[in-house]
Amino acid sequence: MSAPRSVLPPSPPTEGVSEVGSGPSFPESSLTVNQALAQAAALGVDRLDAQWLLAHVLGQSRTWLLTHDDHTLLAEQANTWNALVQRRAAGEPFAYLIGEREFHGLTLQVSPAVLVPRPDTETLVDWALELLTGELAAHPEPEVIDLGTGSGAIALAVKHSHPAARVTALDASPAALAQAQANALRLQLDVAFLPSDWWQAVAGRRYALALSNPPYIAEGDVHLPALAHEPAMALTSGPDGLDAIRHLATAAPAHLLPGAWLLLEHGWDQAGAVRSLLQAAGFEAVATRRDLGAQERCTGGRWPGQR
Ligand SMILES: C[S@@+](CC[C@H](N)C(=O)[O-])C[C@H]1O[C@@H](n2cnc3c(N)ncnc32)[C@H](O)[C@@H]1O
Repeated sequence: MSAPRSVLPPSPPTEGVSEVGSGPSFPESSLTVNQALAQAAALGVDRLDAQWLLAHVLGQSRTWLLTHDDHTLLAEQANTWNALVQRRAAGEPFAYLIGEREFHGLTLQVSPAVLVPRPDTETLVDWALELLTGELAAHPEPEVIDLGTGSGAIALAVKHSHPAARVTALDASPAALAQAQANALRLQLDVAFLPSDWWQAVAGRRYALALSNPPYIAEGDVHLPALAHEPAMALTSGPDGLDAIRHLATAAPAHLLPGAWLLLEHGWDQAGAVRSLLQAAGFEAVATRRDLGAQERCTGGRWPGQR
């Protein structure tokens, strides 16, 4: 059975296809929804992932899909589906296949140039927003920096929820910066983007709030093969995974206003080490927050401004 033409996404007629009657006709494949999902299962793709992916290809909701088992895909849709389901079977993140990811209420466009933003990172954003409306509320236009912005997730979420913040975001990857800038433009969020090796491009500038989700996986970690589609420079940082965090923490005081906060995301087993690093660097009120999975995920401290 074919769905009514009106529910099909607008696709251009394929070259060579005859047009009969009042409107263009689109060639159908022989692949039904049911067969496409069976194909995904045979390739080892999770059923829910397959349903979301097929719904995306058809421009329909998952609910629609579940009630249209015998709907036949157009040839163009079948081609797209075949390519995407193979990529998913090869382990490519779902977000890269559909080109976007929800983060803190924003739809961000993502590509293999950037880490796929994780829900865990919303812990850091929520903590940042609490500080901006609480302890840091005396700053009417607080200067905020996001170091290693990737898709722009943290910087854009903070700017979106706290428009008075003057947000700077930096990254050492030109491709990531381009992606972040495109997201800012599309979401109409005014964030300044800088190419920089951590603090290097902002020498002499001081911030009320510094945020980073840096790479923190140890080189050689057993989980890395499962992350092979994401950029290596977004993932690993030295033999214990703490090189970037060590650098960010020790160099931070030169870039923070008195009473400023530094918040760092880290691995589930790195909280103790990060607390020690911040305390050794002179931070006070050092604390750790847990993510939605109850793992210690984010550690921060206040810079007293004595040095
Ligand atoms: C774990 S990703 C985080 C991306 C984004 N902030 C997020 O939370 O989804 C780390 C980011 O740090 C960037 N990065 C790695 N080394 C860097 C460096 N030396 N200076 C600046 N950014 C760096 C990577 O390009 C990557 O975008």
